[in-house]
Amino acid sequence: MVSIIVAVAQNGVIGDKNALLWHISEDMRFFRRTTSGHPVIMGRKTYDSLGRPLPNRTNVVISRTTKEIEGCTVVGSLEEAIALFPKEEEIFITGGAQIYALALEVADRLYLTRVFHSYEGDTSFPEWNQEEWKLTSEDAYPCGEKFPYPFSFETYERR
Ligand SMILES: NC(=O)c1ccc[n+]([C@@H]2O[C@H](COP(=O)([O-])OP(=O)(O)OC[C@H]3O[C@@H](n4cnc5c(N)ncnc54)[C@H](OP(=O)(O)O)[C@@H]3O)[C@@H](O)[C@H]2O)c1
Repeated sequence: MVSIIVAVAQNGVIGDKNALLWHISEDMRFFRRTTSGHPVIMGRKTYDSLGRPLPNRTNVVISRTTKEIEGCTVVGSLEEAIALFPKEEEIFITGGAQIYALALEVADRLYLTRVFHSYEGDTSFPEWNQEEWKLTSEDAYPCGEKFPYPFSFETYERR
């Protein structure tokens, strides 16, 4: 099963200058809890922004140019990345925008953290047709322990 996991600002922005724009501890914990023990698949730029493989997860990086990254499996396409794992295993597409655009065509599930604030940034989550997806869970917070704006953890399954 292919799952997308992403945090999106109210205006669609997900990052700027190859970095995240907010720090929400609750979302970091949600990401760690949800993806731990599962493969994570990301674009080369997102890998660069992390700077190291995520622990306790098989890290797969998609690149046309880079052939090797220590501690990661590097592949040349999303299809190749998905083919590495059995179908019953939940694998997580962790960005960024270029890889989300490809993954929206094939994903079965979407973990979407909505951040109810707008940010200026150079990278946005691609347009997606919400009618193709069914909201199956929602967990809303008025603010975080150290984050001033509301956010919500939503899960969607492809209809
Ligand atoms: N808010 C969130 O949840 C979230 C999550 C993840 C990332 N982000 C943000 O998103 C931004 C990065 O996103 P991005 O869209 O710029 O980059 P990206 O999707 O992380 O990586 C793009 C790279 O992936 C490779 N690639 C893309 N399409 C490919 C294809 N069809 N076949 C083979 N390789 C392909 C290329 O690598 P090569 O150039 O090496 O060939 C390309 O430069 C950062 O600001 C990051 O902080 C936000």
